[in-house]
Amino acid sequence: MTADGGEGDGEKSRFRCLDAARYVFAAAVTVLIMVVVVNAIKVVLRPESLQLSVAGGSLSTAQLKPPPEEVLGVELNLRAQNPSGRSRMYYLNIRAYLFDKNTSASASSKPEYESIITFIPSDIAVVQQEAVDSLVSMKLKKRQVDPSYFGMLYNGSRFSDMTLRLDGDLITEVTSEFNKTRPTSYYCEQLLVGGKNSDDEPVKYRQDVICKQRGALN
Ligand SMILES: *[C@@H]1O[C@H](CO)[C@@H](O)[C@H](O)[C@H]1NC(C)=O
Ligand SMILES: *[C@@H]1O[C@H](CO)[C@@H](O)[C@H](O)[C@H]1NC(C)=O
Ligand SMILES: *[C@@H]1O[C@H](CO)[C@@H](O)[C@H](O)[C@H]1NC(C)=O
Repeated sequence: MTADGGEGDGEKSRFRCLDAARYVFAAAVTVLIMVVVVNAIKVVLRPESLQLSVAGGSLSTAQLKPPPEEVLGVELNLRAQNPSGRSRMYYLNIRAYLFDKNTSASASSKPEYESIITFIPSDIAVVQQEAVDSLVSMKLKKRQVDPSYFGMLYNGSRFSDMTLRLDGDLITEVTSEFNKTRPTSYYCEQLLVGGKNSDDEPVKYRQDVICKQRGALN
């Protein structure tokens, strides 16, 4: 009796063990499936992101009109590259701010007052696996540039270590019926800003600066 009972108990607990093992296994499979599903959704909703860069890593300046008018020309080439094979991407409502190295581009909460130049590049649209160059060309009067920099730039001085901050809405066309929008900032660092001199090797062969992206939902 006791032996039988003992055996029965042993059998039961063995079954219980098996059941428990089965539950653990089932739970593991469920978690695995969930992980796979979550990753699949992530891939669909958050494909590779739009890459922005400043061609030649520089903003070139020039005297467009002599004193007393004093118009300063500033040009840059903003290159947008869409690495995705599926989604069109748009960068809209862009505001651009140029900062010197004394001001933190990312910490600035009033960039329109703390930057050297503020401007509005046009909207950017890039189809799958293509790159689009947007040439920004500005004609700036004295009051449109930080007073401590206007004269120096107008006279052809150069500055390295400047940062261009771009704030805008990054839109990814997930399907033809669904757009995903999120506010996104880009920081293009170590830019050379100033007079262009074609004989100057370092300027001529400067590499593109790839802008670092910081989204609101990272
Ligand atoms: C930036 O900071 C340096 C010292 O770190 C200072 O000498 C320079 O005048 C500052 N430039 C501006 C434009 O404030
Ligand atoms: C720019 O150059 C002009 C003429 O050479 C000079 O009068 C002026 O002070 C200079 N401005 C700056 C900010 O260097
Ligand atoms: C996505 O946004 C772009 C840019 O605003 C627009 O042209 C396009 O029609 C939108 N697509 C959808 C499906 O809403």
